[in-house]
Amino acid sequence: MKNKEIPAFNRLVIPWYNAQGRDLPWRQTRDPYAIWLSEIILQQTRVQQGMAYYYAFLEKFPKVQDLARASEDDVFRVWQGLGYYSRARNLHKAAKLIVDQWNGVFPNDFSSWLQVPGVGPYTAAAISSFAYDFPKAAIDGNVLRWLSRYLGSRAPIDAVKTRNDFQVILDEWIQSASPHTFNQASMEFGAMLCTPKNPQCNTCPLSQNCVAFAQGSVAEIPIKANKTKVKSQSVFALFIENNAQQWAVIKRNETGIWSGLYTLPLIIQDHYNTELGWLELVQKFDLDPSRLAFQDEWKATHMLTHRKLQVHIFSILMEDMELNTHKFEKWINANEAENLGFPKIFVDFLKHKGRL
Ligand code: ADE
Repeated sequence: MKNKEIPAFNRLVIPWYNAQGRDLPWRQTRDPYAIWLSEIILQQTRVQQGMAYYYAFLEKFPKVQDLARASEDDVFRVWQGLGYYSRARNLHKAAKLIVDQWNGVFPNDFSSWLQVPGVGPYTAAAISSFAYDFPKAAIDGNVLRWLSRYLGSRAPIDAVKTRNDFQVILDEWIQSASPHTFNQASMEFGAMLCTPKNPQCNTCPLSQNCVAFAQGSVAEIPIKANKTKVKSQSVFALFIENNAQQWAVIKRNETGIWSGLYTLPLIIQDHYNTELGWLELVQKFDLDPSRLAFQDEWKATHMLTHRKLQVHIFSILMEDMELNTHKFEKWINANEAENLGFPKIFVDFLKHKGRL
């Protein structure tokens, strides 16, 4: 090690990070539980939005034992608004595993973290380096981008080989730094300076060593082989309200969008299929339309990771409570809806209706 040169990244970017990196709460702790929570929350969520959830989780579930003992619905409630509920489900499952099988002791190395539900190579490297200084480089989209530019690499960043090659390079560089600081600096650099659009090359500490900068190819790099296609689907839902100001909800089954969550009764179909009207939808739920009064329709577009949903919600008044009530999971009022972990699009709708 002794006669090896310190990589330019370590010499130039780590001091930049130490001086100008954001002071984020999970950077001030070595508690693996808090760090794990932060990394799961930040997997598909921006720092600004994730922060409030990080604090909310630590307040509601201060220790992993509190999270393990909570009901899944409790966890969903705190998670509400973050989307991608499989993350919350895995978080809960992992807390139980750690408490019940591992006596509440968190793993301290990369490979053991990979056994934890919801934790992939990026997250395992991030947590083990942040909490235990385990020397494994964390590689996410930010890191793939800055390293591609720095090397002038046109290898597709969505190819396994590129990721593996980059892992070898960065695992070498991390050896001559504090792993915690190296990974934080690497992420911060991609998030704040080497950004997808308008990268800050003027103030970048690494620009003089950057191949893409020298070649004028920063805007073209990184390269992606497969641009992920967004699938368009339509959601047709019923807001069925009775005279007691309660609405019907269903619990979604364990697979697909919003699995395991409560939602309004709904049907999802591919976008190019014919549109459903309220009568057809009501019939699909086996309800008797002669006892229902259509009120209005609400439409919105909602983006999920790989889906664009056209959402149609039909408001229906059900005057005769005796009929049809058994067809749904339950009937809830506004107070109960607050605590049900409803997906965001339905919360938006209920606010629009003035019910929340
Ligand atoms: N995104 C994921 N992990 C992060 C971290 N530790 N700091 C800032 N952004 C992040």
